[in-house]
Amino acid sequence: MSRIEEVRARRIWDSRGRPTVEVEIVTETGARGRGIAPAGASRGSREAMELRDGGTAFDGKDVKTAIAGIAREIAPALRGHEVAEQAMIDAMLIALDGTPDKSRLGGNALIATSLAALHAAASERGLPLWRYVAGDEQVTLPLPQIQIFGGGAHAERRVDVQDFMVIATSATSFAQALEMTAEVYRHAGVLMRKRGAAQGVADEGGWWPAFSSNEEAMDVLVASIEAAGFVPGTDMGIALDIAASEFGKGGQYTLGLDNVRLDTDAMIEKLLRWIARYPIVSIEDPLSEDDEAGMIAFTRAAGSKVQIVGDDFFVTRAAFIEDAAAKGACNAALIKLNQAGTVTETLAALRAARRNGYASIVSARSGETEDVSIVHLATGWNAGQLKVGSFSRSERMAKWNEGVRIEEGGAMGFAGAAVLSRSR
Ligand code: PGA
Ligand code: ZN
Repeated sequence: MSRIEEVRARRIWDSRGRPTVEVEIVTETGARGRGIAPAGASRGSREAMELRDGGTAFDGKDVKTAIAGIAREIAPALRGHEVAEQAMIDAMLIALDGTPDKSRLGGNALIATSLAALHAAASERGLPLWRYVAGDEQVTLPLPQIQIFGGGAHAERRVDVQDFMVIATSATSFAQALEMTAEVYRHAGVLMRKRGAAQGVADEGGWWPAFSSNEEAMDVLVASIEAAGFVPGTDMGIALDIAASEFGKGGQYTLGLDNVRLDTDAMIEKLLRWIARYPIVSIEDPLSEDDEAGMIAFTRAAGSKVQIVGDDFFVTRAAFIEDAAAKGACNAALIKLNQAGTVTETLAALRAARRNGYASIVSARSGETEDVSIVHLATGWNAGQLKVGSFSRSERMAKWNEGVRIEEGGAMGFAGAAVLSRSR
């Protein structure tokens, strides 16, 4: 038990070279914890709001106001409080902010502070973060979803689908899942060079999607799995993040590449054809965040075959997950700390997923840093799955590498493909 003595905030820079908030908390015994806010590019409209300065500098994305708010209001409020009382600290942050969308002090200020407190509490106990949050519970390393091609908002909308990912379904350890993915990622690069389509990487490190259709990207993904020596559908499955809120609204979906406009039924038909044709095991945000009826219909049609993940659709809110479970929309929830805004609310969303038999995937954002907290939380909370982006660029590799260290250090198991949801 130890009290918070100091809360310090500073501006640092994320993987897109944009400002972000870092908070450091020091306790009276000298234990330290650090939290960094990540940043999304394809954000759900109901996420906790980031506080950005506006104006011309850094395209309006500076965070001086958020940092000033931490110094002026958050630091004095937290000083003297027990650092291990995470729920109380988070409740104080929520009350201090006072808005339903965390827009006054900023979701970025709140999540950085909340995470810093969690890290300081773990450090106070002398435990790695994953072990601290796991307590006495037996936990396993998560099954990774790893991007091979980046698209959508992360690649100037070159293709409509945002993430073309693989899941190493035959891997029996976290380390092996990475080995298998490394080969697929490498062979995808070789294939792109052969096609004269090697054009660097997108925001999360996936190969730039120089394709003329979404299907072509999936064809090359399957070819990459085969070139790496694996059997598509047996060793490696495909996971897609459609991120449909980026091109769909009001039951209308405008696919830029195909130059077509589809209604909800036609969009569902298209996705079902993809599921029939490709070894797809997981689909995220297949319909837009405002298309609840579509989500329910798609879950009814495909939920027994594939994992259907709500991201923008749930924005890591327990109440939205509960509501969707009652209605039969999706069978898995993406879990992002900065969508919720505090550690406690993030955990509540994960528990809501578990309570309803939904799988959970702890996820990074497209704007990331060297921070590796999500790997510890996916493990310690026993989330089952982890999504970090691709297999290049150090803000991604830092996280995969941290998983290797955790797996080596502990005598714990690996979640494996059994955690994929196909429940409904
Ligand atoms: P974002 O996208 O971090 O850019 O919002 C990630 C995702 O949609 O999963
Ligand atoms: Zn998503």
